Amino acid sequence: MTRMTSLLPLNTFGIEARAAHFTEVTSVDELRRALRRAVPPVLVLGGGSNVLFTQDWPGTVIRNAIRGIEVVRRFKNRVWVRVGSGESWHGFVQWAVGQNLGGAENLSLIPGSVGAAPVQNIGAYGVELKDVFVGLEAVELATGKTRRFSRPACRFGYRDSVFKQTEKGRYCITSVTLSLSTGRHRVHTGYGDIAKTLAEMGVAQPTIADVSTAVIRIRSSKLPDPARIGNCGSFFKNPEVERAVYEKIRLTHPAAPHYDLPDGRVKIPAGWLIEQCGWKGKRVGNTGCHDKQALVLVNHGGATGAEVVALAHAIIGSVENTFGVRLEPEVNIL
Ligand code: EPU
Repeated sequence: MTRMTSLLPLNTFGIEARAAHFTEVTSVDELRRALRRAVPPVLVLGGGSNVLFTQDWPGTVIRNAIRGIEVVRRFKNRVWVRVGSGESWHGFVQWAVGQNLGGAENLSLIPGSVGAAPVQNIGAYGVELKDVFVGLEAVELATGKTRRFSRPACRFGYRDSVFKQTEKGRYCITSVTLSLSTGRHRVHTGYGDIAKTLAEMGVAQPTIADVSTAVIRIRSSKLPDPARIGNCGSFFKNPEVERAVYEKIRLTHPAAPHYDLPDGRVKIPAGWLIEQCGWKGKRVGNTGCHDKQALVLVNHGGATGAEVVALAHAIIGSVENTFGVRLEPEVNIL
């Protein structure tokens, strides 16, 4: 265990923060040993793509580097694949596409680790992690005991799971098992710009590799590359509001984009609300709102977590004043 370690290279926002104690683990046994020696509070860090540090971490940061991809069961048209939680999510998706295993291709290029994927039920282009999820194994930080979580036990919702609610901060996910199709794949091309991008690529009968390529093209054109400009993807969740709230917005903005939810409420893209309030592309000190997708806050270099939080509060206040809708951060602010 090393002391006072910089977390700068370990968070995609590129924020300088230090861990009082730091260690990396590559297996479940190493994780258990690290937990026995750890100084509380313990933070398990995966890809660092959904955290915003606003202060140094006073206890132990455990960097999860538990790797491995293994087919654990074979069925007629599917396989179950168990993936070590420290694998990169996109690396895993590329492996699956390369093996002609379908289901995760719409989730191409999402930053972060496999272990973080269930925590917020990552989703993009009409597919969510829960659609391919079978179960996971996690180690309880307080006891070192392994616990299995089935899909219902994870209580997945939109960018939500039990690991953001009642079980928050209590477990380190060590492996995730996913169900992937081995043939006759069902490709999902109905969402957003996928069909248009496939047409531009000249593809009529898309394979899962084509869908992955289309998603990568769309994401790279809109979302900043964290290797070049610090960010955590969507900073806010898309708000789900009562229909009356949306109807009121529609009176002044008839073209407001929205998705009808099964329960009668309406989801409004936060990026649109933020853009309407004039934040898109705006720079405030070292931080700013991305010029191609207003939902993404960026670090133009040397930003502190407090600066990003201040910008987020300014945006929340202005969207609330203008539309009466309160945005909630999706990123974990520590
Ligand atoms: N929009 C604007 N201005 C903007 C951004 C978006 O007007 O600056 C409008 C777009 O024109 C479109 C609508 O908002 O009508 C939706 O935009 P987009 O398709 O880009 O998706 P999003 O709702 O902003 C969500 C996810 C993304 C995911 C995309 C595609 C959340 C919080 N974000 O964004 O996920 O990639 O859909 O499925 O649900 C992430 O979670 O980090 C993330 C990037």
